[in-house]
Amino acid sequence: MNKTEFISVAGFAISLLFHMTQAEVCPSTCNCKSLGEMKGLHIDCSSRKLTEVPALPVNTKRLYLQNNSLTSVPPGALDSLRSLEEVKIFDNPWNCDCHILYLKLWLEDVSAASLANIRCATPAPLKKKPLSQLTGNELGICKRLLPVKCLETCLSVLLLTFDTLDFMQQL
Ligand SMILES: *[C@@H]1O[C@H](CO)[C@@H](O)[C@H](O)[C@H]1NC(C)=O
Repeated sequence: MNKTEFISVAGFAISLLFHMTQAEVCPSTCNCKSLGEMKGLHIDCSSRKLTEVPALPVNTKRLYLQNNSLTSVPPGALDSLRSLEEVKIFDNPWNCDCHILYLKLWLEDVSAASLANIRCATPAPLKKKPLSQLTGNELGICKRLLPVKCLETCLSVLLLTFDTLDFMQQL
């Protein structure tokens, strides 16, 4: 084996190892059960007084985070969980300011059923209000979050507008 071959083999082995560890690691604060090879993980992080969502393996299939002290989920934190089938995240003291938008949109995509039983704890005017019912006005404007979120949406609206203009010109 020459040097280049060795480097590429070693690189491959390291990336494989990285993928495996990334896919297999159970958060230390949670209980994990394998649902069988290739079937993913059942991850129970419920009732643990967690204030932050732990780093989760990509092959998480069932995720239980209910009855903790979570107030927010950082934007993008759950995006890598592509094989998720079930999530429970109710009974947390959610702070429904603009930053909660990520969780709301994520749940709308992943599990409308679990969005239905999520209620805000703070700020006071929104206490006990279902997250699913919050409007843009109530969530307030997030100066830091909006531009990033807007990038995709605004761009597609812009493109749609151009398409429509184009179409109208053809009439
Ligand atoms: C919620 O979690 C606490 C521990 O943080 C536990 O004592 C309590 O029994 C749990 N409640 C439910 C309904 O699971």
